[in-house]
Amino acid sequence: MPETPFLEVQGVIAGYGGGDVLKGVDLTVGEGAITCIVGPNGSGKSTLLKTLSGLVRPRAGEIRFRGVNLVGKSPREILRLGIVQIPQNHSLFREMTVEQNVELGAFLERDRRVIAERLERIRGLFPLVAERAGEKAGSLSGGQQRLVEFARCLMLDPKVVVLDEPSMGLDPKTLRRMFATVRAMNEAGRTIILVEQNARQGLKLSDQGVVLENGRVRLTGSGTEVLHNPEIGALYLGGSLEEAATGGDHG
Ligand SMILES: Nc1ncnc2c1ncn2[C@@H]1O[C@H](COP(=O)(O)OP(=O)(O)OP(=O)(O)O)[C@@H](O)[C@H]1O
Ligand SMILES: [Mg+2]
Repeated sequence: MPETPFLEVQGVIAGYGGGDVLKGVDLTVGEGAITCIVGPNGSGKSTLLKTLSGLVRPRAGEIRFRGVNLVGKSPREILRLGIVQIPQNHSLFREMTVEQNVELGAFLERDRRVIAERLERIRGLFPLVAERAGEKAGSLSGGQQRLVEFARCLMLDPKVVVLDEPSMGLDPKTLRRMFATVRAMNEAGRTIILVEQNARQGLKLSDQGVVLENGRVRLTGSGTEVLHNPEIGALYLGGSLEEAATGGDHG
């Protein structure tokens, strides 16, 4: 008997009322893994993430999380099960302070002591949250806001963190810091699913790579396998793959 997969997407068809965007997506994600989804603009990456968090309801197929079918559950129910998504566009309340934004993340938790403990842990992981606690979130740079969004999502103590293009608009230094934070969240036991335009770095970081094309999974494999696949390299990554594979691993 095979074990129940941690997260399993089977035959998912979904769209926005017009034609189907996802045309039968199959995908398995292991507990504790980092999965990176790449693919051209419009291939359905964000739509796939939205089906995971319940923002888009598939018209066919199943999404099972620890054996429980998520299809038909509300975003709030899915959040309660421990799947938290950080959207592609910035989502902080600009007029509220950094700390207020982070505290909002714990809206499903009632126990003040638990909230205080989590906030303390998060301040350790993100010094920015402590240093800029009283400032308006809107006054932070794009990269700093991204980190506050990470901090906020950790207030829910999620099992799965879903990130849609976390690197968007970040300078190289902030980008490295962001990826290091993703790795740290993963090492703290969270399963990570991310969409990345920055395919090289995203795949290098990941246990599993997934190429989505025109609403279907075109290829899956280890992050390195996908990175080395010549066809995929030419289509989505551009430039020299050897360079991508060997050059500056932790730089
Ligand atoms: N809210 C929406 N209403 C209608 N159509 C939408 C909506 N969101 C996305 N689409 C359409 O669904 C298709 C897939 O969009 P999606 O955002 O999933 O692509 P993506 O792979 O995330 O692209 P990108 O790399 O540009 O973020 C596109 O054709 C898009 O126009
Ligand atoms: Mg997208």
